[in-house]
Amino acid sequence: MECDAPEDGRPALIDTLCGVQNTDQLEFVSGLYRKYGSDLAAVIEQQREFHAANRARMTPQLDDIEAEVTYLRLRELRPDKVMELGTFHGWSTTWLLSALRDNGTGHLYSYDRIDNVIANVPADLAGQRWTFTRGDVQASLDEIPRDLGYLFVDADHGRRFGQWYLAHLFPIVPSGTTVSVHDVFHGRKARAWSEGAEVVSWLEARDVPLFTAARKRTPEVFEALNAVRAELGIEGARGTTKNPMIWFTLP
Ligand SMILES: C[S@@+](CC[C@H](N)C(=O)[O-])C[C@H]1O[C@@H](n2cnc3c(N)ncnc32)[C@H](O)[C@@H]1O
Repeated sequence: MECDAPEDGRPALIDTLCGVQNTDQLEFVSGLYRKYGSDLAAVIEQQREFHAANRARMTPQLDDIEAEVTYLRLRELRPDKVMELGTFHGWSTTWLLSALRDNGTGHLYSYDRIDNVIANVPADLAGQRWTFTRGDVQASLDEIPRDLGYLFVDADHGRRFGQWYLAHLFPIVPSGTTVSVHDVFHGRKARAWSEGAEVVSWLEARDVPLFTAARKRTPEVFEALNAVRAELGIEGARGTTKNPMIWFTLP
């Protein structure tokens, strides 16, 4: 399938090609910004300070809108159990934990080969709501909770790793779970031979729509969310704008 802009006169925003379904989702996500805007503004301030205080030892990875939308979805979903695959230095970990803290419920299970995150995540944010497992997640499959309510994936972006989790991790995650995968749409299309290309093909084969605010892939969505953010006076924690993440509901 050729994944270019619609040619039938529909507004560019309605990008249903390649399984991207942004119109309903855009309304939904815009509503979340309005519903949780003041809590979000407080977390952005917290994250700005966290970044400034840990500049020497923490390289953040998520861009602003994708971190914010992750927080907002978690607030709305209120999952009991969240899995984070790929913590690196803890930027996404602190966003995820902030949402669970603000929900007053939920536990985060994080996995990474490296454990720099342990020293970086503030103790009061980790509280009793965080479990970190060090090592190759492929060796931890048996210990992953079977009743996850949200799955966050930002680990190895190679094709083989994508194939591994599509075959082994997805089957143990309940149908209907919200999943996000980072680093998919750095350009208009997912990079060939990448994890992202594997996931996008997997979704297309099952007719599963995805949502993204990636600046290159869906500039209209990116602009529309920026308009909502401007209306609410929300400025990102980092000032970064690529947002290559995708979200979808597991079939
Ligand atoms: C892009 S970084 C994650 C960035 C992080 N989410 C953030 O927002 O800062 C990818 C991480 O995935 C981890 N990783 C890669 N392959 C892995 C595997 N098979 N099992 C566990 N962790 C893995 C790497 O060690 C690395 O820290």
